[in-house]
Amino acid sequence: MTLTTQAGVAPGGWPIVGHTFALLRRPLEFLASLPVQGDLVEIRLGPQRLFVVCCPELTHQVLRDGRTYDKGGPFYGQLRMLAGDGLVTCVYGSHRRQRQLLQPGFTRARLALYATEMSRQLDAALATWRDGQVIDVLSAMNELTTKVTARALFTTPLSPQQSTEFLHTLSALVEGIFLRMIMPAWLRRVPLPVNRRFERALSTTDDLTYEIINAYRRSGVDHGDLLSMMLAARDEHGDALTDTELRDQVVTFWGAGTESTASLLAWSLHLLAEHPDVARRLRAEVDAVLGGRVAGHADVTRLEYTARVLNESLRLYPPAWIITRLLTTETTLAGKTLPAGTILIYSPYLIHRRGDIYPNPSQFDPDRWLPHHTTTLPRGAFIPFGGGNRRCIGDNFAVLEATLALATITSRWHLQPLPGTTTKPQPRTALRPHPLRMQLHHRNTHL
Ligand code: HEM
Repeated sequence: MTLTTQAGVAPGGWPIVGHTFALLRRPLEFLASLPVQGDLVEIRLGPQRLFVVCCPELTHQVLRDGRTYDKGGPFYGQLRMLAGDGLVTCVYGSHRRQRQLLQPGFTRARLALYATEMSRQLDAALATWRDGQVIDVLSAMNELTTKVTARALFTTPLSPQQSTEFLHTLSALVEGIFLRMIMPAWLRRVPLPVNRRFERALSTTDDLTYEIINAYRRSGVDHGDLLSMMLAARDEHGDALTDTELRDQVVTFWGAGTESTASLLAWSLHLLAEHPDVARRLRAEVDAVLGGRVAGHADVTRLEYTARVLNESLRLYPPAWIITRLLTTETTLAGKTLPAGTILIYSPYLIHRRGDIYPNPSQFDPDRWLPHHTTTLPRGAFIPFGGGNRRCIGDNFAVLEATLALATITSRWHLQPLPGTTTKPQPRTALRPHPLRMQLHHRNTHL
């Protein structure tokens, strides 16, 4: 089906570089400014023309047709350097087989098992917090989500030191991807510090990943986790995943499962600190449901306001804020005929900030997510986890983890922003709050 909506061109492109500087310097403002130009807006990165999908209907059209709008473009080009042909980055042709092999790791029953481990890790992590301590919130949340991923998905044989090294190298890679995505291709081959760091981190990640896989193979034990499941999985021809495929999946799940959920939690804690009225309502809920104990799987359905806070945080600051697709065949979109090979961008940030869908779009209002409001949202209007056949496989895992974490943290701790600092969105591979240092006050002593 072809929608006939209006196509436009972004103003302000410079000779030779096009919109590269706008996208580098103020990417969020640049993206949010595009919908006035049309539903499909052309931008230029150097000599390359790209098209940004600016309305929910077209976004939905792109997301539900994974064959025509395949994974590709600069974002996935760089991500493939890290995650090879794993589930996030693989193309349409190999996606179905991979998804079928991995989906059993995300059933309701598995999530309930993961929840037990999540609660345990959460309890242990929060036990190390001290009254009056100042924490870097994103680092603390990264540490937490890394431990949860390590324990729930890979009962990792790495030592605590190796786990920390793994976390740091992955962060260096994730940091490098965004910069390398925007750089012209020739600059990626120049031995700049950013490129050298990226390559070093890539080789450390490979070593550590193969160490995990080999340790699993040697022990032959079924750990009841995602990696054991991947080792045992067979496709319809009876074939197992190869070592390279396993490596790509391990890196994929470490990369996809940690920073995104950490950013969601960090943003939520920041937004709560900025909106005391919302924080009060949230505390009333978690006090009634948890009374200070760690949240578990059985609590989730009663944590309704917590869920609304997380949804609103995902709307305002979607961790996956810019994503590319590659057109595999000539297609007409918004009345414009685009040749095969065209790169498209879809952006949850841009769509979530449209005032015609979300009145007062910059306002943090968890009650937007009361059920009677959400029934009128058009398809493609709320896409923090993407959509169609490439929708995030870890969406329920992430929401579960974030719900347990946010509820337990707010039931036990009050996080106070440090005076004199302004937290801003820092668009990297994930959209992070930066800087975000907060002081911890234990709620028993500061009620
Ligand atoms: C708040 C947290 C998260 C956010 C915002 C998020 C966002 C996304 C988005 C937008 C996509 C689709 C990308 C595209 O359209 O190209 C995606 C895919 C994916 N995510 Fe997540 N994600 C989160 C957490 C997780 C977690 C916890 C895991 C694993 C445990 C995970 C694993 C994946 C995988 C493997 C894919 C690829 C799915 C496929 O193509 O079949 N994500 N995620």
